[in-house]
Parts: sequence; structure tokens; C-alpha cells
Amino acid sequence: MLRGICILVAALACSCSALSDELLTPREQAFLTRHWPGIIPPQGGAPAAYSELERSLSPADCGACHPREFEDWRSSLHSRTMGPGVLGQLLGMGDDQASTRMCGTCHAPNAEQQAWLAVDAGPESGFRANPHFDPLLRRQGIVCAGCHVRQHRRYGPPPANAPGVAGRTGANGPHGGFTAESAFTRSAFCSTCHQFTEDDRALNGKLLENTYEEWKASRYPAEGVQCQTCHMPGRRHLWRGIHDPGMVRQGVTVSVDVEQFPRRPGDTVKARVTIANTGTGHHFPTYMTPKVFVRGYLVDEQGKAFPGTLQEAVIGREATPGLSREIYDTRIPAHGSLTVLYEEAVRRAGLRLKVEIEVHPDHFYVRFFENYLSRALEQKARGLIEAALAQARETPFTLFERTFPLSLENKEDGGASAAARERGAE
Ligand code: HEC
Ligand code: HEC
Ligand code: HEC
Ligand code: HEC
Ligand code: HEC
Repeated sequence: MLRGICILVAALACSCSALSDELLTPREQAFLTRHWPGIIPPQGGAPAAYSELERSLSPADCGACHPREFEDWRSSLHSRTMGPGVLGQLLGMGDDQASTRMCGTCHAPNAEQQAWLAVDAGPESGFRANPHFDPLLRRQGIVCAGCHVRQHRRYGPPPANAPGVAGRTGANGPHGGFTAESAFTRSAFCSTCHQFTEDDRALNGKLLENTYEEWKASRYPAEGVQCQTCHMPGRRHLWRGIHDPGMVRQGVTVSVDVEQFPRRPGDTVKARVTIANTGTGHHFPTYMTPKVFVRGYLVDEQGKAFPGTLQEAVIGREATPGLSREIYDTRIPAHGSLTVLYEEAVRRAGLRLKVEIEVHPDHFYVRFFENYLSRALEQKARGLIEAALAQARETPFTLFERTFPLSLENKEDGGASAAARERGAE
């Protein structure tokens, strides 16, 4: 049985092995290996010259001087990675120290966000209370410091207008300047949390979390298109994904071809619905948690569903509840497409064909949280999981919806291909 949790969770180990990646320069590889050691070590004492504001790890304090990044980040899911679903499960696990730490590597990676620190001291090994623990910082999830601050020094991408710059600059400016590293502009920067390593959990030969490898197998690396190109355009800290209808519309193109019209009652309508992954840099969707429902059905004059005509296809990856076996995987790889055929007898005149595509970003979590609530839980954990369930139930949205008239009268071009073609998820 899955121990908690996040479907992405593998073993109780961090995914922090040395990077070896032909897409990176040796400097970038070395930097990323140092930058993401699992839980990020305590920052230690700040340089004496730092003001109160410069010492602070709080995103709002960074925001005093970096307002755009702060406003963007605040609106992103990276600021909500310690939401009720995660906190409720941590409580449900009795705040088990090893698990809490493991979840923290991706959900709240700074040492200052951990209640417990691991001590590696032979027989004395174990956990001790963390004197630097800041519960408020922990609740803020992946804070600016998680990606940008080590030992109180700032690291960031080279200035956009001087991409070749590397190393320390602006030592006289706020927080002693910063160290420019081109690794910030590379997809591999994101893989520490969005890609499992080889030893992590796989089903049917595919890792549960494989976004970086999916991207690598696409044409995007050769075209110089990184995760940041799509998820941080203009260096904005937005990270929109499957929860954002606008982002998903940019990622796929939907077309419907009604290729056979009925001529008399009882004739069959045939339509092809094609969903092409034209702008998603990895599988659509990349994780096992979302599901996309493609539905065709006939509707009457009032727009009401005509009974018995609904056909549904699902895009996603499904496994048994204990994650022991994959049941299906219909995700669409980058540049690929999926075509669904709708075929149905049209019993009377006046009926129309309706095609709709609905995205359920948290489909897995709805079922997971419902199940979770059936166990014995403390009041506080129960309240958090209930809140997480309510949130997850709010996320579905309609990506595409179109109705096509189906004339039963002798149609000159009845049956002609592409008689009604609707393009684009607009
Ligand atoms: C007192 C104002 C101030 C505070 C507080 C501050 N910064 Fe800065 N920061 C600056 C200035 C000024 C620069 C250099 C100008 C620039 O390139 O944006 C800079 C540069 C940076 C850069 C490098 C930008 C690049 O081009 O790569 C990063 C990253 C950064 N800061 C992160 C942070 C983070 C994270 C915090 C909070 C933990 C923070 N800063 C707090 C003023 C501040
Ligand atoms: C390897 C990195 C990684 C680790 C380790 C990890 N997660 Fe996640 N988690 C993610 C990513 C990425 C997502 C977003 C993708 C998704 O929704 O499936 C996520 C999403 C979630 C969500 C759904 C979103 C939300 O905030 O409600 C929950 C709940 C969650 N994780 C709980 C946990 C728990 C509990 C642990 C520890 C037992 C854990 N995760 C460990 C990377 C990780
Ligand atoms: C998940 C990691 C992550 C988090 C969290 C994060 N950043 Fe960034 N930040 C990046 C990356 C990656 C880039 C470079 C993007 C690029 O090159 O396209 C960047 C770029 C920047 C820059 C340079 C912007 C420019 O226009 O040159 C600044 C300043 C900055 N971040 C500040 C912040 C602040 C302040 C916060 C918190 C409010 C924050 N970042 C949170 C990853 C992160
Ligand atoms: C320290 C770990 C960490 C790093 C580094 C990180 N992420 Fe994330 N990311 C997460 C987690 C955890 C979530 C899940 C948020 C949630 O749903 O609670 C997430 C969510 C997202 C989402 C939103 C997904 C959705 O369901 O809509 C996108 C997009 C994303 N990350 C892209 C990136 C990109 C691009 C980078 C690199 C610049 C990056 N991330 C770096 C951990 C990380
Ligand atoms: C060509 C643009 C593009 C590139 C490159 C790209 N993405 Fe995405 N990404 C999207 C679009 C569009 C979506 C929304 C559709 C979807 O969810 O598949 C998305 C969704 C996501 C999600 C939401 C979860 C899910 O199940 O789909 C995450 C997390 C994510 N991307 C992370 C990454 C990471 C990490 C990289 C780099 C390894 C990356 N993306 C590269 C366009 C891109």
C-alpha cells in the first residue's frame, strides 16, 4: 500500500544523485549537483553587512525589492506546496520524521522549513529537533530561498541582456550581489523535483514521474525550448500548468471531423475527434494525477443529452490503487496525437452531435482523499484532508465544447470528410 500520499513518492530516499547529462556543460552539472543536495543545509549566519531585510528568507521580504517575482510566485502553485493535502497527510503519518523529511525535499526544501534535522553520527544517528525551524516559512512551500539562496548568497540566471556572464557580480549591491549561473536557464534545474531517478518507482517500465525525460525525447531540446521557455516566459514566476485553462489551451489543438452524416433515421453518424499535443513539452498530461475526458453524445432541440448515446474516452495514466500495476496509459507524447472515433445511430431528425473535453487536474487526489477520510484520523488531520478534498473537487474545467448539426435530409455532401471542422481549443 502507498504509505501516504503523493502518487509521486517512491522510496524514502532523496533523488539526489550526481547529474550526468549531455545537455549540460560541466559547470552546470557541477552547480546543479551542489545546488540540490536533498534538504538544503541551514543557511548559517548572515554576513555582518546584511541589513535585516537582506538576512530574511521570507518571500515577502525578497518582494520588498523584487515585487514582480513575489506577486507572480504568490499566485503560483509553488507557493502552495504545503497545502492542506500535504499537511493533513503528514499529521496522518504521525509526523513520522523520515517521511516528513522526504516530502520536504520537494515540497519545502530548506532546512529552516524542517521541524527535524537528520543527524548522521554512527550509532547516535537519528533525528533531533531543529533549532532553526520556522513554521511560517514552512507553510509557504517552495520559497524564493529554495531556488536562489545558499549560505545567504544569492544565485540566479545571468542577466537577460548579458547571457554569457557567469560568477559573482555586483558585490557592492544589496545582498552582496549575486552569482550568475546559466544552469538556472536549463530544464535540468527543474528536474530535481519533477523527475524521478532510475531507482525510483516505475510501473510498466515507466517512472511515475518522468517529465524531464519526456521533454528530452521531444524536439524541444534541439529547438532550445526549455521548461522555463513555456512555464516562466519573460522570466515570470508563474509556473502555470494543468490547473490553468489558458495554459492547457496553449498546449493542445482539438479538431473534430464529422465524416459521415446520417441520411435517414437509424443511419450512423461518424465523427473523429483528434487531440494533438502541439505545445506541451512532455506528455499531455505528464503526471498520473490528472485525467482528461473526451465525450461525444447526441443532444435534442433543447440541448439535452439523448439517452444511450454517450461515448467517452479518457486521456491519462491509470494504475491499481496500491500502484502495483498499470491499467492503461493514453497520455499523448509531445508532438503526438490521439484520435477518438464516435459512431452512433441517429434515431430521429433534429438531433445534433455534441463533443466536449473536460480536464480534471486532481482526479487522482479526489479519490485518494475520499479514501483517506475512511480511516481513523485525528480531528485536525481530518479537517485538513476535508479541505484538500473540497479544493480538489473545485479544479475541473471544460477545455472544448462544440455542437454540430446533423441533417437527416438528403444532404448533397452528406458523408463528405471535414464537412464540419472545428479547430483549436479556443
Ligand atoms: C534590499 C533590496 C533587496 C532584497 C531585500 C533582496 N534583493 Fe535580490 N537583488 C536586489 C538587487 C538590487 C539586485 C541586482 C539587480 C538585479 O539584477 O535585479 C538583486 C539581485 C538578485 C538576484 C539575481 C538576479 C539575476 O539577474 O539573476 C536574485 C536571484 C535575487 N536578487 C534574489 C533575491 C532573493 C531570493 C531575496 C530574498 C531572500 C532577495 N533577492 C532580496 C535587491 C534585493
Ligand atoms: C520528487 C519530488 C516529490 C516528493 C519527494 C514528494 N512530492 Fe508531492 N508532489 C510533487 C509534485 C511535482 C507534485 C505536483 C504534481 C501532482 O499534482 O501530481 C506533487 C503533488 C503533491 C500533492 C497534491 C497537491 C497538493 O498540494 O495537495 C500532495 C497532496 C503531495 N504531493 C503530497 C506529498 C507527500 C505527503 C509527500 C511525502 C510523503 C510528497 N508529496 C513527496 C513532488 C514530490
Ligand atoms: C522553483 C524555483 C524558483 C523559485 C521558487 C523562485 N525562483 Fe526566481 N528564478 C528561478 C529561475 C529558474 C529563474 C531563471 C528563469 C529564466 O532564466 O528563464 C529565476 C529568475 C529570477 C530573477 C531574475 C529575473 C530577471 O528578470 O532577470 C530574480 C530577481 C528572481 N528569480 C527572484 C525570485 C524571488 C524574489 C522569488 C520569490 C518571490 C523567486 N525568484 C522564486 C527559479 C525560482
Ligand atoms: C523544490 C522542488 C521543485 C522545484 C525545484 C521545481 N518544482 Fe515545480 N512543483 C513542485 C511541486 C511540489 C509542485 C506541486 C504544487 C502543488 O500542486 O501543490 C510543483 C508544481 C509545478 C507546476 C504546476 C503544475 C500544475 O499542476 O498545474 C509547474 C508548471 C511546475 N511546477 C514547473 C516547474 C518548473 C518549470 C521548474 C523549474 C524552473 C520547477 N517547477 C521547479 C516542486 C518543484
Ligand atoms: C513547449 C512548452 C512546454 C515545455 C517545454 C514544458 N512544458 Fe510543462 N506544460 C506545458 C503545458 C502547455 C502544460 C499544460 C498541459 C499539461 O498539463 O500537460 C504543461 C504542464 C506541466 C505540468 C502540470 C502537470 C501535468 O500533469 O501535466 C508540470 C508539472 C510541468 N508542465 C512541468 C514541466 C517541466 C518540469 C518541464 C521541463 C522538463 C516542462 N514542463 C516543459 C508546456 C510546456
